Amino acid sequence: MGRLAERTKHIADSPTMAITATVDRLRRAGVEIIDFGAGEPDFTTPEPIKAAARAAIDQNFTKYTPASGIVELKRAICDRYRTDYGVEYTESETLVTAGGKQALFNAALSVFDPGDEVITHAPYWPTLTEQIKLAGAKPVLVRTHADDGFAIRADAILAAVTPRTRGIILNSPCNPTGALISEDDAAAIAIEAARHGIWILVDLCYEKLIYDAVPHNLPAVFARHARDLTVLCGSASKAYAMTGWRCGWALGPAPAIAASAAIQSHSTSNVSSITQKAAVAALTGSQATVRAMLDEYRIRRDTLDQWLSADPRLRCQKPAGAFYMFIDVSELLSVDGVRTSAQFSQTLLDESRVAVTPGEAFDAPGFIRISYATSMENLREGSNRLLAFVKAHAPRAVAAG
Ligand SMILES: Cc1ncc(COP(=O)(O)O)c(C=O)c1O
Repeated sequence: MGRLAERTKHIADSPTMAITATVDRLRRAGVEIIDFGAGEPDFTTPEPIKAAARAAIDQNFTKYTPASGIVELKRAICDRYRTDYGVEYTESETLVTAGGKQALFNAALSVFDPGDEVITHAPYWPTLTEQIKLAGAKPVLVRTHADDGFAIRADAILAAVTPRTRGIILNSPCNPTGALISEDDAAAIAIEAARHGIWILVDLCYEKLIYDAVPHNLPAVFARHARDLTVLCGSASKAYAMTGWRCGWALGPAPAIAASAAIQSHSTSNVSSITQKAAVAALTGSQATVRAMLDEYRIRRDTLDQWLSADPRLRCQKPAGAFYMFIDVSELLSVDGVRTSAQFSQTLLDESRVAVTPGEAFDAPGFIRISYATSMENLREGSNRLLAFVKAHAPRAVAAG
């Protein structure tokens, strides 16, 4: 057998994809599953966005576009950020990418070198650390804690800075915790990063899914203190229920964007021309559907929290953003029974046909992640099954009934 490249040896499969694959397999075998694993909205893409895509096809807008994206879409992205955050970016500071994932990947390849250290916070979305490794750099993890609401603290991040630190990656709202970084902490990080010439990549994938009107203008904070060192990575996926269309973007200093565009031009080239037209409609059209989806997620979050709080051994916290409940199940693990959250999730799937994502997928053993991007009926049925499972499996020493 041929020898695989060295870089493949350090890359793990996406564990979140593994859960989806198991669910798919069981479903194909006719097994009925309540799926709390989904990392994507259950809503359909809003009609005006689909109409724009149909029009693009009908008008034969189906050829290559500039690799970095069509001007119309770059302008739409810049206008959206100006309107929503008051920041100014130009077309040469904007790149259209195949999802936020590619924006982050291009940026990592553009600004990190082998041997560099890149700080991020854990629990984390696993792609962030794998991308750091693909760039040859070393992830440096700063823990956030459940009893602190998984807050991303500037002092903790900055305490991890060494002379080798080349970058800091922040994800707020965070997947899997739903936590936000405060503007003060973001500013403190930006100021120090600017002093040391450290890059900041901000994963804003869930930026439109924040439940309360808390100050969270990260684009403005980073533009004010570290504009030349910040790459903002956004996405149409979650806000507009467009995960399959593959559209995201990067906003940042022109040299980093040009480097990212060059990498993209030699790998995937332009995002689908049809998708780009759809994204223009998403960004320039009414944002009412975004608010409607957020309102629905909020109701689900509150209801789920209420249901699961019936058993205090499922230690829940209401997330401030995104659509995941990250639950501490460590009290339910025992040495002689289900020992890890991975086993907990597997047994729950095998016995009760409920799919959750184990905390191990996010470097957070002892937790499970429930996605409430699913219907209220599914949430009700899945919660009932989970509560019954907990009752049946609780370690005897702490069993509460
Ligand atoms: C934290 C986070 N960032 C970025 C992404 C990328 O999503 P996309 O590439 O669809 O924009 C995801 C997707 O699940 C995510 O959870």
